[in-house]
Amino acid sequence: NQSSLKDAYKNDFYIGTALDINQIEEKDAKTTQLIAKEFNAITAENIMKSMFVHPEKNKFDFETADKFIAFGKKHKMFIHGHTLIWHSQLPKWFSEIKDSAEMNAALENHITTIVKKYKGKVDSWDVVNEAVNDDGTLRKSVFFKALGEDFIAKSFQLAAATDPKVDLYYNDYSMENPTKRAGVIRMVKKIQEKGIKIDGIGMQSHWHLNSPTIEEIEESILEYAKLGVKIAITELDVSVLPSPYGMQGAEVSQRFANNEKMNPYPKSLPDSMQVKLAQRYADIFKLFLKHKDKISRVTFWGVNDTQSWLNDFPIKGRTDYPLLFDANLQSKKAYYNVIEAAKK
Ligand code: G3I
Repeated sequence: NQSSLKDAYKNDFYIGTALDINQIEEKDAKTTQLIAKEFNAITAENIMKSMFVHPEKNKFDFETADKFIAFGKKHKMFIHGHTLIWHSQLPKWFSEIKDSAEMNAALENHITTIVKKYKGKVDSWDVVNEAVNDDGTLRKSVFFKALGEDFIAKSFQLAAATDPKVDLYYNDYSMENPTKRAGVIRMVKKIQEKGIKIDGIGMQSHWHLNSPTIEEIEESILEYAKLGVKIAITELDVSVLPSPYGMQGAEVSQRFANNEKMNPYPKSLPDSMQVKLAQRYADIFKLFLKHKDKISRVTFWGVNDTQSWLNDFPIKGRTDYPLLFDANLQSKKAYYNVIEAAKK
């Protein structure tokens, strides 16, 4: 079977995957072959986050990020940088800044150094990640506490000034929640009203079998598109397990600690669930195709099930089956449905 995801969607949008260090080091030939065959875009799952590239105040470490770029160039892929400004996976020195002048200087040094380093190599950046709360207010992150909401526009401005050609994205999860969406739209409009460049919105798309609904996803695609920006599906996966959202901290650990109750599929995904997952992916890609004029890229958050972050979320040791390839790198039913969707 010679078909591949990237060929099936070559006239529609890029098909990407997130990669982590072991994959770019090409330690397993079968994995490398699969990545090269199926995908034409890559995102660094962790490698470009601040704790790795900027571990100390005046020290950058680009060794692994350089390997990630080299992997993308070697395989002629679209390269997406993830992420410049995020409140999570921050190095200690960054997370401890309280003074506004110091934060301004840190932001400037961080963004300009990294964007300059990969100018002409990275095709698009997540400039700011996850700055909006579910209720539409801005997250009270270390950046917000030091600089107020200005840190967002300023980050875009710095990135645009350093590399005017690279596409600049705002990226977040739960982008289908209408209250959060309203907050994101307010925030993007403020950036645009200042005349600062923002090219796209990234909908992370960490979804479940039944939520959000196709209608909710479509409504968000249409609403964001009204801002005149590109839309990318940046971290797609579909969890088959009960959602931990809405539970409080203690409840999450208590319920997920009981693996039997919350994780009924310890060894493999039963056929009936394979079918449900495949149907869900078919519905999702049908919607993406309907709006392909608005969507620049669809990226999966990982290559195969064993490697997914969901296996350890919200506590270590969960087993989930969210992607198109199984533990043995075999195509799941969902894979064939995604290929079939492109032919309709
Ligand atoms: O770097 C340490 C390593 O030194 C240590 O040996 C190892 C042992 O567990 O942990 C390593 O850190 C891990 C890190 O990934 C780097 O591999 C953390 O434990 C682990 O929690 C961390 O998880 C990442 C998570 O972001 C952190 O928030 C996931 O791999 C990554 O998939 C996930 O990605 C995020 C996006 O960036 C933003 N959107 C949500 C998405 C899912 O949470």
